[in-house]
Amino acid sequence: MDNSIVLNGLRFQPYLRREQIDKQVARVASEIRRDFEGKNPVFIVVLTGAYVFAADLLRNVGINENQVEFVRYSSYEGGTSTTGCVKQLMGLRQEIKGRNVVIVEDIVDTGLTAERMIADLMAQEPASLKFATLLYKPESSRTGYTPDYAAFTIPPKFILGYGLDLDGKGRNLPDIYACEEG
Ligand code: IMP
Repeated sequence: MDNSIVLNGLRFQPYLRREQIDKQVARVASEIRRDFEGKNPVFIVVLTGAYVFAADLLRNVGINENQVEFVRYSSYEGGTSTTGCVKQLMGLRQEIKGRNVVIVEDIVDTGLTAERMIADLMAQEPASLKFATLLYKPESSRTGYTPDYAAFTIPPKFILGYGLDLDGKGRNLPDIYACEEG
Protein backbone atom coordinates (compact mmCIF):
# COMPACT_ATOMS: atom_id res chain seq x y z
CA MET A 1 0.00 0.00 0.00
CA ASP A 2 1.31 3.46 -0.90
CA ASN A 3 1.13 5.63 2.24
CA SER A 4 3.09 8.47 0.66
CA ILE A 5 1.84 12.09 0.61
CA VAL A 6 2.40 14.70 -2.08
CA LEU A 7 2.62 18.37 -1.04
CA ASN A 8 3.73 21.23 -3.31
CA GLY A 9 4.82 18.62 -5.87
CA LEU A 10 7.16 16.86 -3.41
CA ARG A 11 6.58 13.24 -2.34
CA PHE A 12 6.91 12.34 1.35
CA GLN A 13 7.20 8.79 2.72
CA PRO A 14 6.23 7.65 6.26
CA TYR A 15 9.36 7.93 8.40
CA LEU A 16 8.48 7.77 12.11
CA ARG A 17 5.19 6.28 13.34
CA ARG A 18 3.12 7.61 16.23
CA GLU A 19 4.11 4.66 18.48
CA GLN A 20 7.83 5.41 17.99
CA ILE A 21 7.23 9.12 18.52
CA ASP A 22 5.22 8.53 21.71
CA LYS A 23 7.95 6.27 23.09
CA GLN A 24 10.78 8.75 22.47
CA VAL A 25 8.75 11.74 23.70
CA ALA A 26 8.07 9.81 26.93
CA ARG A 27 11.82 9.07 27.26
CA VAL A 28 12.78 12.74 26.86
CA ALA A 29 10.01 13.72 29.30
CA SER A 30 11.37 11.35 31.93
CA GLU A 31 14.90 12.79 31.48
CA ILE A 32 13.53 16.31 31.93
CA ARG A 33 11.44 15.27 34.96
CA ARG A 34 14.56 13.70 36.53
CA ASP A 35 16.58 16.90 35.93
CA PHE A 36 13.90 19.50 36.81
CA GLU A 37 11.65 18.02 39.50
CA GLY A 38 11.35 20.64 42.26
CA LYS A 39 13.11 23.31 40.14
CA ASN A 40 9.97 25.12 38.94
CA PRO A 41 11.05 25.23 35.26
CA VAL A 42 9.80 27.59 32.55
CA PHE A 43 9.29 25.85 29.20
CA ILE A 44 9.82 28.15 26.23
CA VAL A 45 8.09 26.67 23.20
CA VAL A 46 9.29 27.78 19.78
CA LEU A 47 6.37 28.48 17.45
CA THR A 48 5.10 27.28 15.23
CA GLY A 49 6.58 23.83 14.62
CA ALA A 50 7.07 22.76 18.27
CA TYR A 51 3.44 23.13 19.36
CA VAL A 52 2.50 19.45 18.87
CA PHE A 53 5.71 18.10 20.45
CA ALA A 54 5.38 20.56 23.35
CA ALA A 55 1.80 19.53 24.12
CA ASP A 56 2.76 15.85 24.33
CA LEU A 57 6.09 16.50 26.07
CA LEU A 58 4.72 18.75 28.82
CA ARG A 59 1.84 16.39 29.63
CA ASN A 60 4.40 13.57 29.91
CA VAL A 61 6.78 15.62 32.07
CA GLY A 62 3.88 16.11 34.46
CA ILE A 63 5.45 18.83 36.65
CA ASN A 64 2.31 20.79 37.51
CA GLU A 65 4.01 23.96 38.76
CA ASN A 66 5.86 24.51 35.47
CA GLN A 67 5.09 27.54 33.30
CA VAL A 68 4.86 27.74 29.50
CA GLU A 69 5.92 30.66 27.33
CA PHE A 70 6.12 31.02 23.55
CA VAL A 71 8.64 32.63 21.22
CA ARG A 72 8.71 32.79 17.47
CA TYR A 73 11.69 32.92 15.12
CA SER A 74 11.87 32.58 11.37
CA SER A 75 14.60 31.34 9.08
CA TYR A 76 12.55 29.60 6.37
CA GLU A 77 10.66 31.70 3.84
CA GLY A 78 8.84 28.86 2.11
CA GLY A 79 10.41 25.73 0.64
CA THR A 80 12.76 23.22 2.18
CA SER A 81 15.96 25.12 3.03
CA THR A 82 16.90 27.81 5.50
CA THR A 83 17.66 31.40 4.48
CA GLY A 84 20.49 31.41 7.03
CA CYS A 85 19.11 34.69 8.41
CA VAL A 86 17.32 34.20 11.74
CA LYS A 87 14.74 36.81 12.79
CA GLN A 88 12.88 37.02 16.11
CA LEU A 89 9.18 37.57 15.36
CA MET A 90 7.75 37.26 18.89
CA GLY A 91 9.48 37.43 22.27
CA LEU A 92 8.75 36.53 25.89
CA ARG A 93 6.02 38.14 28.00
CA GLN A 94 7.67 37.35 31.35
CA GLU A 95 11.15 37.72 32.83
CA ILE A 96 13.27 34.58 33.06
CA LYS A 97 16.05 36.07 35.21
CA GLY A 98 17.05 33.47 37.82
CA ARG A 99 14.68 30.81 36.40
CA ASN A 100 15.45 27.29 35.17
CA VAL A 101 14.54 27.36 31.49
CA VAL A 102 13.95 24.55 28.97
CA ILE A 103 13.60 25.56 25.31
CA VAL A 104 11.25 23.22 23.38
CA GLU A 105 11.97 23.15 19.62
CA ASP A 106 10.76 20.98 16.73
CA ILE A 107 14.07 20.46 14.91
CA VAL A 108 17.71 21.50 15.02
CA ASP A 109 18.94 21.67 11.43
CA THR A 110 21.79 24.15 10.83
CA GLY A 111 21.69 25.10 14.53
CA LEU A 112 21.50 28.82 13.63
CA THR A 113 18.06 29.34 15.24
CA ALA A 114 19.15 27.47 18.39
CA GLU A 115 22.30 29.60 18.74
CA ARG A 116 20.39 32.86 18.22
CA MET A 117 17.69 31.89 20.74
CA ILE A 118 20.22 30.81 23.33
CA ALA A 119 22.11 34.10 22.95
CA ASP A 120 18.85 36.09 23.33
CA LEU A 121 17.73 34.12 26.41
CA MET A 122 21.17 34.03 28.10
CA ALA A 123 21.15 37.85 27.94
CA GLN A 124 18.22 37.66 30.39
CA GLU A 125 20.35 35.76 32.93
CA PRO A 126 18.35 32.56 33.62
CA ALA A 127 19.66 30.29 36.43
CA SER A 128 20.02 27.50 33.85
CA LEU A 129 19.12 26.97 30.18
CA LYS A 130 18.59 23.60 28.48
CA PHE A 131 17.38 22.74 24.99
CA ALA A 132 14.96 19.93 24.09
CA THR A 133 14.24 19.10 20.46
CA LEU A 134 12.03 16.53 18.76
CA LEU A 135 14.48 16.05 15.88
CA TYR A 136 18.21 16.71 15.53
CA LYS A 137 20.05 16.61 12.18
CA PRO A 138 23.77 16.67 13.15
CA GLU A 139 24.95 16.31 9.53
CA SER A 140 23.20 19.59 8.59
CA SER A 141 24.90 21.54 11.37
CA ARG A 142 26.65 24.79 10.45
CA THR A 143 27.35 25.62 14.09
CA GLY A 144 28.33 22.38 15.86
CA TYR A 145 25.48 23.02 18.30
CA THR A 146 24.29 19.87 20.14
CA PRO A 147 20.91 19.96 21.95
CA ASP A 148 20.70 18.71 25.56
CA TYR A 149 17.70 16.46 24.85
CA ALA A 150 16.68 14.99 21.48
CA ALA A 151 13.84 12.53 20.82
CA PHE A 152 15.40 11.45 17.47
CA THR A 153 18.75 12.00 15.75
CA ILE A 154 18.12 11.78 11.99
CA PRO A 155 19.97 12.17 8.66
CA PRO A 156 19.62 15.47 6.73
CA LYS A 157 16.16 14.79 5.25
CA PHE A 158 13.36 17.36 4.96
CA ILE A 159 10.66 16.34 7.46
CA LEU A 160 6.90 16.92 7.56
CA GLY A 161 4.14 16.24 10.11
CA TYR A 162 3.68 16.21 13.93
CA GLY A 163 3.91 20.02 13.86
CA LEU A 164 6.54 20.38 11.11
CA ASP A 165 5.43 22.03 7.88
CA LEU A 166 6.15 22.70 4.25
CA ASP A 167 5.02 26.26 3.48
CA GLY A 168 2.64 26.08 6.46
CA LYS A 169 1.07 22.79 5.34
CA GLY A 170 1.17 19.29 6.85
CA ARG A 171 1.51 20.22 10.53
CA ASN A 172 -1.62 18.21 11.35
CA LEU A 173 -0.20 14.85 10.23
CA PRO A 174 0.03 12.56 13.31
CA ASP A 175 3.09 10.68 11.98
CA ILE A 176 6.41 12.07 10.73
CA TYR A 177 7.17 11.93 6.98
CA ALA A 178 10.46 12.42 5.11
CA CYS A 179 10.86 13.96 1.67
CA GLU A 180 11.99 11.44 -0.96
CA GLU A 181 14.27 14.04 -2.56
CA GLY A 182 16.26 14.38 0.69
P1 IMP B 1 17.92 25.80 11.86
O1 IMP B 1 18.04 27.24 12.29
O2 IMP B 1 18.52 25.60 10.48
O3 IMP B 1 18.48 24.82 12.85
O4 IMP B 1 16.39 25.47 11.62
C1 IMP B 1 15.47 25.62 12.58
C2 IMP B 1 14.08 25.79 11.99
O5 IMP B 1 14.01 25.46 10.58
C3 IMP B 1 13.16 24.81 12.65
O6 IMP B 1 12.60 25.35 13.82
C4 IMP B 1 12.11 24.56 11.58
O7 IMP B 1 11.10 25.54 11.66
C5 IMP B 1 12.84 24.72 10.29
N1 IMP B 1 13.24 23.40 9.74
C6 IMP B 1 14.49 22.86 9.69
N2 IMP B 1 14.48 21.64 9.14
C7 IMP B 1 13.18 21.38 8.83
C8 IMP B 1 12.51 20.23 8.25
O8 IMP B 1 13.11 19.19 7.91
N3 IMP B 1 11.16 20.33 8.11
C9 IMP B 1 10.43 21.45 8.48
N4 IMP B 1 11.03 22.52 9.03
C10 IMP B 1 12.38 22.50 9.20
